[in-house]
Amino acid sequence: MERAVVQVTLFGLLLVLASTLPNKDDWNIYSFHINSTVTSRYATTVITSRVANRMDDSKEIEFQVRIPKNAFISKFRMFIDGQWYDGVVKRKEKAQQQYTEAVSRGQSAGLVSSVGRTLEEFKTSVTVAAHKKVTFELTYEELLKRKLGKYELQIHARPMQPVKDFKVDVYINEKAGINFIEVKGGLSTKALANAITRTHADKQAWVYFYPTEDQQKTCDGCGEQGMNGDLVIVYDVNRDTSLGDIKTSAGYFVHHFAPSSLSRIPKNVVFVIDQSGSMSGRKMQQTRIALIHILNDLAEDDHFGLITFDSSIFHWKRELVQANKKNLESAKTFAQNIQARGATDINAAVLEGARMLNAHPREGSVSIVILLTDGDPTSGETNLEQIQSNVRRDIADKFPLYCLGFGHDVNFEFLEKMSLQNNGVARRIYEDSDADLQLKGFYDEVATPLLTDVTMIYNGGTNLTQTNFSQYYNGSEIVVAGQITDNDIETFTPQVVAISRDRRVTFSNTNATVEYTGTDFDSHVQRVWAYLTVKQLLEKELLFSGPEKKNVKKEALELSLKYSFVTPLTSMVVTKPLGEKTDVLHKPKEGGPTQARPSPVGHRPSARTRNGKTRLLAHPGSFSRKQHKRYQNKFINY
Ligand SMILES: *[C@@H]1O[C@H](CO)[C@@H](O)[C@H](O)[C@H]1NC(C)=O
Ligand SMILES: *[C@@H]1O[C@H](CO)[C@@H](O)[C@H](O)[C@H]1NC(C)=O
Ligand SMILES: *[C@@H]1O[C@H](CO)[C@@H](O)[C@H](O)[C@H]1NC(C)=O
Ligand SMILES: *[C@@H]1O[C@H](CO)[C@@H](O)[C@H](O)[C@H]1NC(C)=O
Ligand SMILES: *[C@@H]1O[C@H](CO)[C@@H](O)[C@H](O)[C@H]1NC(C)=O
Repeated sequence: MERAVVQVTLFGLLLVLASTLPNKDDWNIYSFHINSTVTSRYATTVITSRVANRMDDSKEIEFQVRIPKNAFISKFRMFIDGQWYDGVVKRKEKAQQQYTEAVSRGQSAGLVSSVGRTLEEFKTSVTVAAHKKVTFELTYEELLKRKLGKYELQIHARPMQPVKDFKVDVYINEKAGINFIEVKGGLSTKALANAITRTHADKQAWVYFYPTEDQQKTCDGCGEQGMNGDLVIVYDVNRDTSLGDIKTSAGYFVHHFAPSSLSRIPKNVVFVIDQSGSMSGRKMQQTRIALIHILNDLAEDDHFGLITFDSSIFHWKRELVQANKKNLESAKTFAQNIQARGATDINAAVLEGARMLNAHPREGSVSIVILLTDGDPTSGETNLEQIQSNVRRDIADKFPLYCLGFGHDVNFEFLEKMSLQNNGVARRIYEDSDADLQLKGFYDEVATPLLTDVTMIYNGGTNLTQTNFSQYYNGSEIVVAGQITDNDIETFTPQVVAISRDRRVTFSNTNATVEYTGTDFDSHVQRVWAYLTVKQLLEKELLFSGPEKKNVKKEALELSLKYSFVTPLTSMVVTKPLGEKTDVLHKPKEGGPTQARPSPVGHRPSARTRNGKTRLLAHPGSFSRKQHKRYQNKFINY
């Protein structure tokens, strides 16, 4: 309180500001720290917020932070009045039951909800007695994915008020050596740029971000409520040309494979573009712009096809042709004139794309289909399972299908499943002013195939994550984790076999790359294995049916519980002092039709009944089983 008054006087705006300072007089975040440690691309971040209730009455104090969607929360606890209260990760149904009981007793539940493109909001609260303090501590973990030649660690800072002791500490440790490191994001600009210190020494890097209270108020997008924005740490590691990085510890290994000094393989690409009525206006305009940029970037030895569809199919040309100047000019004119109208026959369009590629076999090339759609199938075959089965039959594992779901009216789960069934990935394109860049960005990720039929072989390894990959693109990375049989490092021999532009290649270079870093205390490699395994099991759950589905679900659940990950199958039950409301935190679903639209500032997803004791914070889509960030281990990352 004293501090607030001093500042206000300084600004000479006592009356005006005092009335706009929310909550400033009754509670105070006196310390807010974010500590992120990245080892071999696995980031563990701890957010610690210390809050004091300065009032003469007890007060409900809220803790609300945003974390990357791709991360799993692994720990949450509160320290109140000399005691820690540790949250417990439980099977979702069990936690849900506890929550239902709590609600029927007039208590409440909290949640994690999806916010914008990349973040989820975690929110809980606790009642703090007069003149007492509370410490909130949240831990989350994620494997950073290499995309277009770099890793990005996103840290969102929005403490809700300027904080005297505010710190972000990032420590990166990569044994391959750090090639470059940059700090980006809204919080790295203007007044805040001075608050960043960056140190980089071969295998280690440190980023410190210590803005003063004044800086927290005067930066871009900041105000009297303090900062609200991102700090994005961008880096890449050094690579040798061979087998890549293998780290082993306590019986587990993780292998990062991303060779870059290979020749690109010419590609055959068919673009299947939705021109149904719902695409009209800005979406269609952005699609035209993106297509023209993409066409400009095709290499002369690429071959391509372009079809648009509504309830009918429109060919630019019936067969694939070479990306020479003349053809590209003609295709650009076609792209320029795509008009939106009619319904959506996804089945016929994708099958036609597959037909064109099947009719165009070419030695030493790579084929891909890219589908862009903004809606559900409404014309021709509309049974989703039948479409999936037709597409699978015609593609027959010969090339990947990438599905781009434009906007929020798409059935993303349908696209996701269809992509996974055909060795591809689905990506959401957000309806926004940069949608054309999102489209082009996705294309860039698959623009340069370097290897096909990649088989990762680990003699002496067991319980491996995915080991076969149909294609490897420049700028991405293949990650495989597993256990070493009997922890026998001597007999453990990793090897990669693949097909490059002109020949079959084998990567093996064991003694130089396998590094034993382990102590039993360093469970980090094991957690990477668990993280990847859970992500891939969740994908399989989407893909499978019947007993297989049940088995992978069971396995994913067991691992989530063992490693205390809040996944779509588990929930965090927040433990609080006796007599307080119960909070149950679920991981939200990305992709369903109920998914919240991207919102730049916090959105309140739900009904709130402030008067009673019940405060049910429920997002319609947040209790679902599935989760958007799939295909962890494909080369295309999101
Ligand atoms: C951040 O976390 C790491 C790992 O737990 C710890 O070693 C380090 O001391 C922490 N740094 C700060 C500034 O708290
Ligand atoms: C792959 O990317 C690297 C930079 O990340 C670049 O130096 C290299 O030339 C690219 N390879 C091809 C074949 O484009
Ligand atoms: C690892 O694999 C072995 C069999 O190879 C199996 O018995 C064991 O349960 C697996 N461990 C885990 C954690 O999945
Ligand atoms: C992976 O590929 C190899 C060789 O291409 C094949 O023998 C093996 O069955 C494949 N494994 C899986 C799990 O698909
Ligand atoms: C493996 O180690 C042996 C002996 O230590 C060495 O001669 C050989 O060059 C190493 N192989 C590679 C690929 O580094």
